[in-house]
Amino acid sequence: MKNHKILITGGAGYIGSHTVIKLLELGFSIVILDNFSNSTYRIIKKIKEITNKNFEIIKGDITDRRILKNIFKKYKIKSVIHFAGLKSVNESDKFPLSYYENNVIGSINLIKEMELANIKNLVFSSSATVYGNQNNHLYKEDAPLSPINTYGRTKLIIEEILRSICNIDPEWRAIIFRYFNPIGAHESGLIGDNPINCPNNLLPFICQVAIGKRKKLFVFGDDYPTSDGTGKRDYIHVEDLANAHALSINYFEKTNNSFSVFNLGTGKSFSVLEVIKAFEEATSIKIPYQIVKRRDGDVCESLADPSKAKLELGWEAKFDLKRMCIDSWRWQSINPKGI
Ligand code: NAD
Ligand code: UFG
Repeated sequence: MKNHKILITGGAGYIGSHTVIKLLELGFSIVILDNFSNSTYRIIKKIKEITNKNFEIIKGDITDRRILKNIFKKYKIKSVIHFAGLKSVNESDKFPLSYYENNVIGSINLIKEMELANIKNLVFSSSATVYGNQNNHLYKEDAPLSPINTYGRTKLIIEEILRSICNIDPEWRAIIFRYFNPIGAHESGLIGDNPINCPNNLLPFICQVAIGKRKKLFVFGDDYPTSDGTGKRDYIHVEDLANAHALSINYFEKTNNSFSVFNLGTGKSFSVLEVIKAFEEATSIKIPYQIVKRRDGDVCESLADPSKAKLELGWEAKFDLKRMCIDSWRWQSINPKGI
């Protein structure tokens, strides 16, 4: 494993930092490239504290080809796990050019420099958002793709670029992970979802209500055609995602498929009210909430069929919603202001 050096773009971010820990624990050698636009250097110290291992960290941007070129010249990278990207759905429709530049151009630069350095193993962080809003909410990987926001379109474009490259060059191994709704935190409570600005997602909001930073949670709509009228999602523990990335490195070695897509979800969906209840039960903290109108761009339900990842990758989610709430809350209560 020590000989297998992995470049992790966005490795200081939420999912990236949990994956770095997992890979270091497995003995891989790691180089992180992050511009810290949505993370902080303090995360690096926490990763070192948890693992007691050394790794390389480079502050830089994936849109800068010189930095990528230098990294591939300096280190004998065998595989790349590509987390770096902007991820706010809301913001993406306000600043589409920034999203296309950062996510799409950044990924093209990365892939081009990988080609020049003859590195052809890439794991890409895609999203359930590429499925859009369809009548059948249980998504298999071959479901039609029709993202309804700019963020989702950037993910689909990058998927398609990788598909084209794999079509013409069978030496490429591209693994596309479509994450459903990542929540939870490392069990140490030392790292977790650490949004630099206002959070975008449900669990960070719930945690901020629990810690007293916000008075109540706004529940976006109770008139969806679901059991209690609130939106349903397939929440997945970030540690389960980290495990999938660790398995992906073995998969490079064993698969003949040049281009592979996997849903990463539990196969169970929960409504917003069910998540609030699960959080209250797991933490014994009451979460006051108010129903408000639907949030623009929200889908009614999103649910993974994760059977392909089980069959081909040997991966399945281990952690349930209660554990996700407990771990999210441990992280928030130890770090009330984030890190
Ligand atoms: P994050 O924002 O916590 O991490 C992304 C990291 O990439 C950050 O550390 C940021 O500083 C860095 N970064 C951003 N642009 C960069 C650039 N141009 N050059 C170098 N570094 C850059 O996000 P996350 O939740 O860890 O998500 C990781 C990936 O997974 C993203 O691509 C995201 O779109 C995708 N994803 C996330 C979710 C989710 O809900 N968290 C769901 C589906 C997909
Ligand atoms: N919600 C509330 N109140 C809040 C925040 C969220 O009611 O304060 C609701 C939403 O309306 C939705 C559910 O909680 O029904 C989940 O919302 P999130 O914002 O946590 O997650 P989304 O499904 O909207 O989007 C997330 C990521 C995207 C990713 C997508 C699919 O933000 O980046 O999951 O992976 F693309």
